[in-house]
Amino acid sequence: MSQPIENLLHENRNFPPAADFVAQANASDPAIYAEADADYEAWWAKWARELHWFEPFGAVCEFEAPNAKWFLGGKLNAAYNCIDRHAEANPDKVAIIWEGEPGDVRHVTYGELKDEVSRLGNALKQLGVQKGDRVCIYLPMVPELPMAMLACARIGAAHTVVFGGFSAESLQERTNDAEAKVIITADGGWRRGKVVPLLQITEEAVSKGCPTVQSVVVLNRAGDYPIPTGSFYHAWSELVASQATDCPCEPMDSEDMLFILYTSGSTGKPKGIVHTTGGYLTQTYATTKLTFDLKPDDIFFCTADCGWVTGHSYITYGPLANGGTVLMYEGAPDTPNKDRFWRLIERHKATILYTAPTAIRTFMKWGEHFPADCDLSSLRLLGSVGEPINPEAWVWYHEHIGHGKCPIVDTWWQTETGAHMVTPLPGITANKPGSATHPFPGIAISILDEQGEGPVVTGPGSETTASGFLVIDRPWPSMTRGIYNDPERFQATYWSKFPGKYFAGDGVAVDDDGFLWLLGRVDDIMLVAGHNISTMEVESALVDHHAVAEAAVIGRTHDLKGQAIAAFVILKSEVTETPALVDEIRRHVAEKIGPIARPDDMYLCGELPKTRSGKIMRRLLRDIAEGRALGDTTTLADPSVVATLKLQYEEKEG
Ligand code: WT7
Repeated sequence: MSQPIENLLHENRNFPPAADFVAQANASDPAIYAEADADYEAWWAKWARELHWFEPFGAVCEFEAPNAKWFLGGKLNAAYNCIDRHAEANPDKVAIIWEGEPGDVRHVTYGELKDEVSRLGNALKQLGVQKGDRVCIYLPMVPELPMAMLACARIGAAHTVVFGGFSAESLQERTNDAEAKVIITADGGWRRGKVVPLLQITEEAVSKGCPTVQSVVVLNRAGDYPIPTGSFYHAWSELVASQATDCPCEPMDSEDMLFILYTSGSTGKPKGIVHTTGGYLTQTYATTKLTFDLKPDDIFFCTADCGWVTGHSYITYGPLANGGTVLMYEGAPDTPNKDRFWRLIERHKATILYTAPTAIRTFMKWGEHFPADCDLSSLRLLGSVGEPINPEAWVWYHEHIGHGKCPIVDTWWQTETGAHMVTPLPGITANKPGSATHPFPGIAISILDEQGEGPVVTGPGSETTASGFLVIDRPWPSMTRGIYNDPERFQATYWSKFPGKYFAGDGVAVDDDGFLWLLGRVDDIMLVAGHNISTMEVESALVDHHAVAEAAVIGRTHDLKGQAIAAFVILKSEVTETPALVDEIRRHVAEKIGPIARPDDMYLCGELPKTRSGKIMRRLLRDIAEGRALGDTTTLADPSVVATLKLQYEEKEG
């Protein structure tokens, strides 16, 4: 097969799991891969049976691309599985440890969680929410956020969580697309010492027009904005005060919708990704147990917001379905100081940390003395998600956060996949820094070229490394069941490039040992003088240079080469910029990857344009490098960043 994307970066350090970790691991026998492969339906059915079903399922899976059904005919309730069965066995066990940005702390036990969720469930019913309705949740990271999700699940309504950093327009668009009956919000939430005025933003969205919304429930969190009177806005506290703590869990069909979550593609309106109940809960449950090796006494700190899929699957559903304890934090990592995450871990004795490479690189930039000054000895496992983790960041994470003793799980998955798809298992896999390693047991992946040729067969001893498009071969329980109200777009986006197979949109390479290396979104692949080069590889080589803190790379049009490589680079704070240093960094990339990857343009800058979930918006960097007017900047976390960059660029180009 031809190689649509070249993988030029080589990384061969190896980190096998430590014997004492293996001895206690939930999964330590490599035979589970073969077992799951031999009969993947039986493998997943075994996990599904660890959940509580009101009525057992019959057939395990029915699949005709793009439509899948899992655990047919089974009846269950996600809230029952995440709360009631633990509240009955162990009511005083802490489910959620929460710290607000100002420093307030709450512990919510499974018993309390059951009561609170039941009261809110009854309140939603009182507002007219019925099984099958949608409820929009626009809350800060407070315990009431997972409570609201679970209250919806309890009464059979689907939730759609909108990240608290989104604007009125984004909230309005998502609320209307989901046809939500109720919005649950708060007066505000704390972020960098200030209150984000969520109620005010909700009012703005409502006044622009949310025709399906009948009521708004307002939690009092920040206490700085009056709740309007009348029958449309309701104070959470008043609404739940009179409700009973008895609210039966609605028996849901395995295929009933659990939630819609919007993902913003690089173009077009956001896609409402639909997940259903039985399959989603099965795979989030199983992956939490195996990938994170979750045990009853673990304290699991996932730094994502519940507004993203990571907060759905690995704060709410996966850990709570396991009866685990999660640590949740409301605010920013640098408030009041740049050691906030490490102080949280120290204070609450977190044992597992799950965060993103962009955060890790930021911590590297801030300096290792922040974690070094804190007691991180409670940690036993680290996780990464969101983008490929460059080996440099992997090694730093391993050394300065894990103190060399914590395995790292680099988990590749998507909003659409619902749960981990490619990841090490910490008691089995020998890690190579930067590789997400192997598909989770039961998952089958192919690497195909533009013509759909493949799969690539490699193994120990084969000489070449192959790369191409990441394709998922067979159905998996937590796969999305579609884009809400848009089956054509679902088919076109994921199922038409390689008919009958799921196209993830990512590039991937496999090395001689069969390890997978994610190469980023295929839209981020450059074509330089006939070579396909992944922006992520050049970025990884850039940050490998000791003076570089962060980098973003794009291909800009070039008369001769098709595309030329433009690199936007943030230097470490202690480094002084000189032309010699710029040359040296370019040379470093050429040495790491090859002369073909040497950046043509280098811009030193102070910040990079990122979305609120931390993804670099390369589209805008291309606009800058090609001297165009900036495209849509509304999804940026900080729109002023690109404006500054553009000015800098124009000055430099004269
Ligand atoms: C895209 C999905 C999955 C939850 C957070 C993001 C990239 C995610 C990894 C990883 C390399 C990764 C992919 C994927 N991605 N995790 N471990 N290694 N790339 O969810 O917003 O739906 O984004 O994030 O490009 O397709 P999302």
